[in-house]
Amino acid sequence: MCGIVGFSGHSDAIHPIIEGLSRLEYRGYDSAGISYQVEGELKILKKEGKLENLKKLIEEIEPSSCIGIGHTRWATHGKVNDLNAHPHANDEFSIVHNGIIENANELREHLKKENFEFKSETDSECFLNLLTLEYKKCSEVKQAILNTFKQVKGNSAFVIIHKSSHLIYAIKKSAPLVCGINENSHEVYVSSDPYALVGFTTQIFFPKDNILCVGDHTNKTHGISFYDIEGAPSKNYTVQEKQMDLNIVSKGRFDHFMHKEIYEQPSLIRHLYDKITEKENLEALYNFRGSDINFIHIIGCGTAYHAGLLIKNFLEKNNRMRVNCEFASEFRYRNPLLKRTEAGLFISQSGETADTLACQELCKDFGLKTVSIVNVEGSTLFRECDANFLIHAGVEIGVASTKAFTQQVLVGYILTCALSEKIDLEEIKQEITSLAQGVEDILSREEEIMAIAREIYQKKGFIFTGRGEQFPIALEGALKLKEIAYVHAEGYASGELKHGPIALFDENMVNIAIVTPDLYDKTISNAQEVKARKGVMVLLGEKDNKELEEISDYYFGIDFAATDQLKPLLSNVFMQLLSYHIAKLKGTDIDKPRNLAKSVTVE
Ligand code: M6R
Repeated sequence: MCGIVGFSGHSDAIHPIIEGLSRLEYRGYDSAGISYQVEGELKILKKEGKLENLKKLIEEIEPSSCIGIGHTRWATHGKVNDLNAHPHANDEFSIVHNGIIENANELREHLKKENFEFKSETDSECFLNLLTLEYKKCSEVKQAILNTFKQVKGNSAFVIIHKSSHLIYAIKKSAPLVCGINENSHEVYVSSDPYALVGFTTQIFFPKDNILCVGDHTNKTHGISFYDIEGAPSKNYTVQEKQMDLNIVSKGRFDHFMHKEIYEQPSLIRHLYDKITEKENLEALYNFRGSDINFIHIIGCGTAYHAGLLIKNFLEKNNRMRVNCEFASEFRYRNPLLKRTEAGLFISQSGETADTLACQELCKDFGLKTVSIVNVEGSTLFRECDANFLIHAGVEIGVASTKAFTQQVLVGYILTCALSEKIDLEEIKQEITSLAQGVEDILSREEEIMAIAREIYQKKGFIFTGRGEQFPIALEGALKLKEIAYVHAEGYASGELKHGPIALFDENMVNIAIVTPDLYDKTISNAQEVKARKGVMVLLGEKDNKELEEISDYYFGIDFAATDQLKPLLSNVFMQLLSYHIAKLKGTDIDKPRNLAKSVTVE
């Protein structure tokens, strides 16, 4: 889950690499580094910590080169320090790596016997040393890379430069990698995400697995050539049809991407219905309706799992289907009972989450149909599933998932409604429009949410509660808060408080309770129980409700009336803004919270 950028051209390589890395920091920010070529020598600058540290070093040294590679790291093998930061280099090559080399120990032993010394604790350095060994044998860079790549196990992407060549090499297996050219300035680029290249390239290519991309900026007709694993020219890549808009890389009027992404929700919601009900999607659904599938396993991690819990409710209610919703990290190791008459539904923003991918593979091995609800088209999950429903959320940069959650739930909802013979899709369309309006209404009251955040942000802990359809939002609200504000927060089913957590309450503990008309009496009693123990009560419920206003210390009323099953998505927008403002008051790094990365490609 690291970010990679490579550049080769006639002009400065450092600026596009650093700009690309700054856009990829969401993929990891334990350390950052660059390697570049100066008069036949490979130089390296790398620093532990965020890209800022590397930038300071670059300001001091003022490197200059026309070819280079850069990396932002989310540590897997080896501690977070300068030595383990990428790139890794020796007298011959510099390399950057994203992924895991599964046979690293074995390779390391073999390479030590060949007198290679290791400077770092990383698995990536095995690739560097093995490449150097292969190069000694064949004296040909392209062949040496292919020979090396054949020997490493696991899912990885590598980008390589050689001390005396202007070519840039990239190859991957089940890890994201793109390359691009600028046809006007004759520059070549590689990256782990096309997002890093927006504004730099005029054409982007997506190589398939095991295809070696060779970037040559001096070749004006084919800036990038592709070769199969045996070294023969290959056309095994796709070309990006639509250019990405430069606006997506800017925060616009917002201080943080998370905030911008929260505000993108109404527009994304409005555009989703037409996309999901496209003919192709509906056909896939109707095939499903005609099949003998009688049980669905919904799998995801973190926020995607919470979206799954809501979709489980929809499937049970609208389709009377039997459903299990589980964390991917649990499902994969508990030897679940799987039958061919069941299906796996995998939810993921990135489509690269290692545990979720492993569950998809498991289901596939047992002969289950696998379906995804995913944001990134072309991601590993997207490629591996039998059918995919895109959530059309656009690029999500903030590590805390906001708009992707809303879109995941909404896609799930539209699909379950379309699957049901009893539901009129026109009514659903209206409900979605009301949802977008409801979200806009909450956004327009951000000041009120900020005021609540100011009152509670210094409290010792936060318990989020909800019942039924709102319970997943309690979990999601707590996850969001702890993730970006670094405070202790837990999500609980309202009725569970008295079975333990109520012991936590005093005037320093906050209960953020969702009290909607469903099971109103029961939920309000739970709130009163907390109030009696001096807990600080933030109540989120139906608007203009006097009782809620009286019981609570802080009350936020929402007009849920027009949204029926989508009520949880409204409560969630309140949670998103509340977490955002608490984190802002605490001064944390909201878009890049400590210890996290956007996509968790390790197990
Ligand atoms: O890319 P995915 O949706 O598969 O990621 C799953 C989780 O890692 C992710 O939702 C995580 O919990 C978020 N950082 C929460 O905001």
